[in-house]
Order: sequence, then C-alpha cells, then structure tokens
Amino acid sequence: MASFREMCFTPAEFAQLAKLDKSIIGDLEQQGLLKTIKKKIGNVDRKMITLEDMQDYFRTVRDTAPASMGDGAEAAGAPIPVEALSSVAAATDVLFKRPKTKIQMFYNVKGGTGKSTLTAQYVMRASMMGLKVLAIDLDGQGHLTVNLDILDAHERPTIYDVLINDLPIDQSVINVAPGLDLIPANLGLCNIEIPLNNKPRREYRLSEAIAKIADQYDLIVADTNPAASILNGSMLVASGLVNVVCATNPLSFHGMSLVMTTIEELEREFRHKLQVRIVPNMYDNREVISQEVLGELRTQFPESCTRTVINRSADLNEATKRRTTVWDVSSKGTAAQDINSLAEELIFT
Ligand SMILES: Nc1ncnc2c1ncn2[C@@H]1O[C@H](COP(=O)(O)OP(=O)(O)OP(=O)(O)O)[C@@H](O)[C@H]1O
Ligand SMILES: [Mg+2]
Repeated sequence: MASFREMCFTPAEFAQLAKLDKSIIGDLEQQGLLKTIKKKIGNVDRKMITLEDMQDYFRTVRDTAPASMGDGAEAAGAPIPVEALSSVAAATDVLFKRPKTKIQMFYNVKGGTGKSTLTAQYVMRASMMGLKVLAIDLDGQGHLTVNLDILDAHERPTIYDVLINDLPIDQSVINVAPGLDLIPANLGLCNIEIPLNNKPRREYRLSEAIAKIADQYDLIVADTNPAASILNGSMLVASGLVNVVCATNPLSFHGMSLVMTTIEELEREFRHKLQVRIVPNMYDNREVISQEVLGELRTQFPESCTRTVINRSADLNEATKRRTTVWDVSSKGTAAQDINSLAEELIFT
C-alpha cells in the first residue's frame, strides 16, 4: 500500500478532485498543463497522475488564473492557454482561490473528539490541492505525527526545543510529502507547561516563532492537546481561525460551553479576534442522539457551525491504521467526500 507521498491518482480521481470532465484530461496533457505516467496495475499499464504532478497542475491553475476568478488571486507568469482555461473555468472557483486564513488550529479541551484524525486528513487534502502546507503537532501523544507516517519522532526536535531551548523553528521542520511539512511531537512535549510558564512573553513565543517561517507556506495548521494548556493558549494567540471539533454526542456537546468561554476569555485577554468554526464529527444519521446533538449545535451556534458534517466512517479508522489519506482507502467513500467538503469550506470560505 502506497504511503501518501507515493500516491498516484487515476484520471477519474483527478477529474473528481479538479472538478473537471474526465474527457478533458488528454487536452490538458497536450497543452502541457498536466503530466501522466504509465503505471503497472496488476498486469495492465494504466495512465496515472502522481501527487506531485497533480499539485503542479493546481499551482499552475491558481498562479495563472485571472484575478477575477479567485479571491485575490493575481495573474503571475505565463497565462494558461485560453482553450484550457475556458474548460477549467467550468470548475468551481475554489480552484482559483487562495486560503482565507493562513494560520489555523483544530481544538477542543475534550479528548477523543477527532482532532488529530481530522487535522491529518485536512492537511493531506490541502496539500493535494497544491497548497504548501505546514502541520504542527502540539500534543505529546504525537497522533498527528503518527498519522502523517512519522514513526521516529522520539529522536526528533519538537516545538518544545523551539519554545524552551531556543532552537530556530526551521530546524524542527521535516518534510513528510511533496508540499507537506511537519513539526512533529513526542512524549517530551507533555513536560512543556512548567518551563513555558516560566518563560517571558510565554503566550507570544509560538506566534513569534511561526512568523519566522510563515512566508514559506500557504497554510499552517496545528493539532492541539485536549486541555486548556498554555501551549494551546499560545496557538490560539497565533491563529486566525480555530476549528473546534465536536463529536455529535451529549458529553462533547456539553463541553462546548467551556470551549467557547475559554476562547472568549483569551480573545479578551490578548485583544486577539479569532474566527471560530465548529466541526460536527462522528455523525451517524441512524442515531436519534446524533441528530439531536447536531440540531442543538446548529441552533446554538448558527454562525460558527460548519455546513460540512463529518460522518462516522470506518474509512477514517482505516486511514489512521494505514497512516495515509482517506482517498487512498476509498476515493468515492463518504469520508473522502466529507474531508473534501471540509477542506473547501475551512480553507476558502
Ligand atoms: N468520523 C469518524 N468516524 C470514525 N472514527 C473516527 C472519526 N473521527 C475520529 N475517529 C476515531 O476516533 C478516535 C479518536 O480520534 P482522535 O485521536 O483523532 O481524537 P482526538 O480529539 O485527537 O483525541 P485526543 O483528545 O486524545 O487528542 C480515533 O480512533 C479515530 O480514528
Ligand atoms: Mg489528538
């Protein structure tokens, strides 16, 4: 089974991601906008598109699209051939946009709501769109790190070394796949609270460190630990958008008032306005309780609740087990569709 970095896409899968008709792929190839390779699948040579070539396609489209097609996208470099552009123009404008909020985090003081799982899928999906992404693991459990297939994190520097030992942040960054970097975590990070508490400007250290490398990325996304910790507080100060993952069960819903209060207090203390989105997760429409909790979330937090609901799906567990994207498990499955829709909503709207 291929890891995320080695993933290849069939023309049909590419067409689905690029919101194009499959018949146009030959034209895109001819115009030099897309590369395909022949890959042996069983006994047959099949046309496939590597992750890197797909990312290049999205970058070219984004960098050369007229500004009118996207949110502040500026035309740069040679324009895409007009014939090709008119065909991709049928795709939604998502392809032509740039991320609305560069620095984001997935957060909830409650444990086990799906933060690490969704962060991992989200950053892989964003990098599939050709965005240059930095993922930051702020949880000593290191689940985001493992989900991104890094198994030797105990030997690597983490954000602990950056915030406490003054390691330059770029020395903590590793590459996990084309267009996707990670600052990993290991158990040592669980000991950061006391030394961080004793540091001057403790809540600003993380945002100042991130600022040093932010220019290199289109999107920076952190997974956080399930606590009202100083480290999480520092990430809230650094972020423009906080995605609160709420499982559609009563206890998770009950914890939401604490989460929202924590965020509001922090906004006041640091005079830092945050955009908050609530992501309903593990939804099962066969369960009345799931429906009730989703209804309550939408009623109580109408502005913040995402349109996208992440259904409970074995594909997400399977992807975690294989340390890859849900696309690799089943590109047509509900989980892949949910993650697509979440990525488009949280990155571009
Ligand atoms: N939509 C989903 N469908 C099925 N399983 C899910 C879904 N979302 C998450 N899970 C599973 O739930 C478990 C907990 O998820 P995860 O570790 O991502 O939660 P977390 O909020 O990061 O936990 P912690 O607070 O400990 O960091 C994992 O086994 C994960 O695979
Ligand atoms: Mg986690």
